[in-house]
Amino acid sequence: MPILRFFFLGVFVAGVAVLAIAGLRGTQHHRFSQPPLEVFPDMDRQPKFKAQSPSPFFADGRAGRAEIPGTVPVEYPADHEALATGRIGDRWVTGFPVPVTAELMARGKERYTINCAICHGDTGVGNGMAKQFGHTTVASLHQERLREMPEGEIFHTIAKGRGNMGAYPHIKLEDRWAIIAYVRALQMSQHVPADELPPKTRAKLQ
Ligand code: HEC
Repeated sequence: MPILRFFFLGVFVAGVAVLAIAGLRGTQHHRFSQPPLEVFPDMDRQPKFKAQSPSPFFADGRAGRAEIPGTVPVEYPADHEALATGRIGDRWVTGFPVPVTAELMARGKERYTINCAICHGDTGVGNGMAKQFGHTTVASLHQERLREMPEGEIFHTIAKGRGNMGAYPHIKLEDRWAIIAYVRALQMSQHVPADELPPKTRAKLQ
């Protein structure tokens, strides 16, 4: 059946031709130095300006447009560096860039319990459930170093993680400060100097 044979040969040759022209462009390590024939351009070429490039279109000759005055980032007020980064310039924030209220503390307790207690434990000693399941390097938040750590650095630890601790960037900015306020309360609960106790409690001590 010579006709059928020619048919298969034809399909084969056509297949090779299509592959050769339009097909494989090589893997990462075997790229052709010449651009491929563009049978299907696949949006390879799109009119656009690269960052920092010039453009004759705008009066100032720049393709990149300046922000419209008053533009703020989606997540935080741009003028409030301390609140958004835990830093002022190259220094950590000490204290809180938000008012520390009973409400903030309650929110902090709730968010701490949701986000942190699984590892650091309800009281912050580092005995959360994750420890029982093998996460043995969880730090106690009552170490002197962490009691003295600037609030901004703790903020940074929540935002970016540190060492074996992952980052928690999804926690909202105000909630991070709320959590830090609660961490401070936990720390204080274990280390308050006797002369700072309310008189009633101090009387109990003696
Ligand atoms: C999955 C477990 C886990 C969770 C959840 C977790 N941490 Fe940690 N955290 C760790 C571990 C582990 C370390 C010790 C990191 C290291 O030194 O390698 C640590 C260390 C820290 C430190 C000390 C960092 C330093 O400078 O040594 C702080 C502060 C801290 N965590 C705060 C928090 C807060 C606040 C939360 C909740 C938003 C939180 N962590 C949630 C595991 C966790």
